[in-house]
Amino acid sequence: MNTNHEESVVDSLSIFEEDILKGLMAANKSLPSKYFYDAKGDELFQQIMHLEEYYLTNKELEIFNSHKQGILDTISDGEPFRIIELGAGDGLKTKILLRHFMECDVDFTYTPVDISGNVLEILERNLFEEIPELKIESYQGDYFDALADISAKPEKDIVFFLGSNIGNFSHEEAVSFLSSLRKELKPSDMLFMGVDLKKDPSAILSAYNDSQGVTREFNLNLLDRINGELNGNFIREHFMHYPYYNPQTGECRSYLISTVDQEVNVAGEHIHFRAWEAIFMEISKKYDEVQLKELAEQTGFKIVDSFRDKKNWFSDVVWMNE
Ligand code: AVJ
Repeated sequence: MNTNHEESVVDSLSIFEEDILKGLMAANKSLPSKYFYDAKGDELFQQIMHLEEYYLTNKELEIFNSHKQGILDTISDGEPFRIIELGAGDGLKTKILLRHFMECDVDFTYTPVDISGNVLEILERNLFEEIPELKIESYQGDYFDALADISAKPEKDIVFFLGSNIGNFSHEEAVSFLSSLRKELKPSDMLFMGVDLKKDPSAILSAYNDSQGVTREFNLNLLDRINGELNGNFIREHFMHYPYYNPQTGECRSYLISTVDQEVNVAGEHIHFRAWEAIFMEISKKYDEVQLKELAEQTGFKIVDSFRDKKNWFSDVVWMNE
């Protein structure tokens, strides 16, 4: 396993502090959703993926189960290739494809990329048990370090970016992320990306406002994390979770709203909240056909194909670098 652990521990604490304070001291307060995922946050996200209301995981699973051969035919021309999966997590969905490709005797290597070494170790162990013949070369670190380091090899690369992770970017951020990603690819390399589609707004809102309150916990957990790691004193009872879906932009945005006028200390700074002042926590953007086409055009990708579930709620798109 590739790792640059030493540097990142020292670095990441101060970057974490810097990002959090910058967000809390801005006129419009925000906190980066990428910090949701500490150990507790990972666990809560696992729970979210098992919720009936959080349809995204099940829809993508349905797509993989019903289109595994079509997906293989689209990404493979018979030559050896490599799958680089950004943010691999527990690999639950990817396993369906990996197993099918192995059964078809396809020659490929699987390279899961994740910032968490712990996640990768568990994934490797699990894959070794379930698909022992699979060639795995995992990479611990940042997506772009990974792409720069590994995409130099001659075989064809297919970058997997699943689960609507792209939804955590605003349109501008998505354009800049995908443009930079494409620049790391060789001609004919592909992107295989899971995107959540526009649908009945109430179904979308329920996915981020589940009846068991797990998503609420997921958001509040970042306040706990800040309390623990940056000597903060957030009182979670003084914040309410408020997700909001805009059917025109396709943006579902989550906020934590201060229900009282209060002062919170974080890393020695005093942060004032007016009553009903909001912290913007996360964007989970939903796309339609037109917006996807625009995104591909703006980032220089050629649209090759797409796979959808029966209800057209979710899509896995295949784009090529020309
Ligand atoms: C992991 C970014 C795809 O935005 O749907 C789930 C994270 N946030 N519930 C999403 C999340 C609240 C999730 N992604």
